Amino acid sequence: MHIKASAPGKVILFGEHSVVYGKPAIAVAVKKYAHITIKERVDLQINLEIMGLGVLASLNLEDETISCKNNRMETGILKYVLKALKLIQDKGPTKGMDILLEIEMPVGAGLGSSAAVTVATIAAANKYYETDLKLDEIAKLAHQVELEVQGAASPIDTTLSTYGGALYLGRNTNRIEKLPLNWELPLVIGHTPRESNTAELIKKVHSKMEEYPSIIYHIFKSMEQITEEARDALIEKNEKKLAELMNINHGLLDALGVNTPVLSEMVYAARETGALGSKITGAGGGGSIIAYCPVKIEEVLRKLQKIENAFKAHITYEGVCTNIKE
Ligand code: MEV
Repeated sequence: MHIKASAPGKVILFGEHSVVYGKPAIAVAVKKYAHITIKERVDLQINLEIMGLGVLASLNLEDETISCKNNRMETGILKYVLKALKLIQDKGPTKGMDILLEIEMPVGAGLGSSAAVTVATIAAANKYYETDLKLDEIAKLAHQVELEVQGAASPIDTTLSTYGGALYLGRNTNRIEKLPLNWELPLVIGHTPRESNTAELIKKVHSKMEEYPSIIYHIFKSMEQITEEARDALIEKNEKKLAELMNINHGLLDALGVNTPVLSEMVYAARETGALGSKITGAGGGGSIIAYCPVKIEEVLRKLQKIENAFKAHITYEGVCTNIKE
């Protein structure tokens, strides 16, 4: 038996970092996927291979030993896969498997690769172990995985990877609303290798919060207002306002200390080349920017490709999906 599950990555349009403090956020799922294929085994061994990353790990469920060929066990994406399997095995029977993971998006670049991998792993393992989790339970478990691996995380990435689409997450993520976007958002994503991971960046912002509580409080308050106004601007297709709000939000992310010289270079090069708005997306610290380009999208794409890496973002309205082949 083969089970394949695929989950999309995402870009945050508004609300990164402030969402960790209960503020609202807006994000879209993008057509770059994490695919996981599970092949049945009769023993209690779990073998894991990540295409392109060369990680080959084995986990023996009997004696709980883990071996990893190139010592990347404690870092990166593997931790999410193993934690996801551990949490789902706590709910159902234990059985070995061969796992092949393919990740279409740049890993650790603020585009939700870890959430996409986690959600796809849980969805595939859910079928394999017949644990019968519903979508909302998959999203919840995936968030728990991110929390346990990273120490802190909002549910935004795992929610987008589970449901897909363009989503508004209300205060304290108490409300998830599908945004009625009836137009294709012309976005270019520029990405650079990460200097720090999400957990470290969340910690960095937290230290700023502790050092300057009332200043950071007001930054988060402004971010909240930006997200609320951006929600209306997106629905009404108010392009000028949307772009301006992105630019203001970028300035505030810079103030939080998550910008880098290369991200800044890309953000301003995009605007100079014709993007109406541009900002960091995701945790920052390296990672990615988005440029909103109702005009000159090809020019902005080429410009960002000259600086680092870039591609056009296409929104997907499908979330995680699974296929079983007997
Ligand atoms: C990560 O994509 C965005 C952050 O807001 C962290 C989180 O929400 O978990 C920085």
